[in-house]
Amino acid sequence: DRPLFELAQSRGFTFGCAVTAQLLADEPQFAGLVAQEAGLLVPEYEAKFATLQPEEGRFDFEPLDALLRWAQHFRKPVRGHALIWHNALPDWVPPALAEGRSRAQRVMETHFDRVLAHTRARIRDWDVVNEPIANPPGSDVPEPAGNTGDLRDTPWLRAFGPDYIPMAFRAARQRDPTLRLTLNDYGVEADSPPAEEKRRRLLRLLRSLRAQNVPLDAVGIQGHLQMREAFSPAIFTTFVREIRALGLQVLITELDVREVKPPVGDFVARDSAVAQRVHAFASAAFEGGARTLLTWGISDRWSWLHREATVALDPGDVHRGLPYDWELNRKQMWRALARAF
Ligand code: XIL
Repeated sequence: DRPLFELAQSRGFTFGCAVTAQLLADEPQFAGLVAQEAGLLVPEYEAKFATLQPEEGRFDFEPLDALLRWAQHFRKPVRGHALIWHNALPDWVPPALAEGRSRAQRVMETHFDRVLAHTRARIRDWDVVNEPIANPPGSDVPEPAGNTGDLRDTPWLRAFGPDYIPMAFRAARQRDPTLRLTLNDYGVEADSPPAEEKRRRLLRLLRSLRAQNVPLDAVGIQGHLQMREAFSPAIFTTFVREIRALGLQVLITELDVREVKPPVGDFVARDSAVAQRVHAFASAAFEGGARTLLTWGISDRWSWLHREATVALDPGDVHRGLPYDWELNRKQMWRALARAF
């Protein structure tokens, strides 16, 4: 079989996955799989705020540089993730942002200055704002009571109001006019009332950004799927088309699948259900015009899903939501992706 990135490429698509510098260094099997399968990488932690600027004015580029060196050696492009997010903020940032608008503006500008200058030659595509949309009622992780707007209540929103989003995109474009600037979010994939409302909120935001001429090139749809949610290919394709109709590209940035508790059936049955869902999802995204798909990791063995408590499986069991299993065997999900491209 040809590797996924090659299959994807031969049909005009890009396939890649999230990696960590640590795993690339310590786990030769992980690194081998990534080298073989991925045509594009994204750092799982290394380009987040807390890693890059743990203390104010002290930048630590070493973890990201290690990843970039590996990527360069294997000639794999890297996307940046993420400049502005409410998570992975170092302790000093929220209080600094709360000190007032001009101070907050310096925090944003200094971070963009240093990070974009440092990565200029190696990263051509950034998630500028990650997860800005508030979770509607009925979501797994509800928005704190009191926030009724479309936007998530974050230290950035509190510092600048909704303007933090246009500011961030303008700041990025100004520092490097040739970067592809992406807004990334999740919870918009399923056929459910909260997902439907989140799609409406995201589209409202995108239309308003377009109306204000904000320099935005693409939308990343994370694609953290859950087997217990319903999925409608037609609804999702329409959503991707609606984004594309605004003149924006669409990328699937973090695909993986959480199973339900308790898991039903043996591995074969579970893997086939996951594969079917992935095939339906990826095909619907491509039908809508998405041309890039990344998975969040490559093997179940190192998936963030085990570290996440939202849907726990039985002790000793693991989620099987990535193309390779714990023993690094290819699963049906690999095949589902190969067929979807
Ligand atoms: C996750 C990492 O995978 C975890 O290891 C970390 O503990 C938390 O962040 N959406 C995103 C990613 O945009 O940055 C998140 O990554 C997963 C959800």
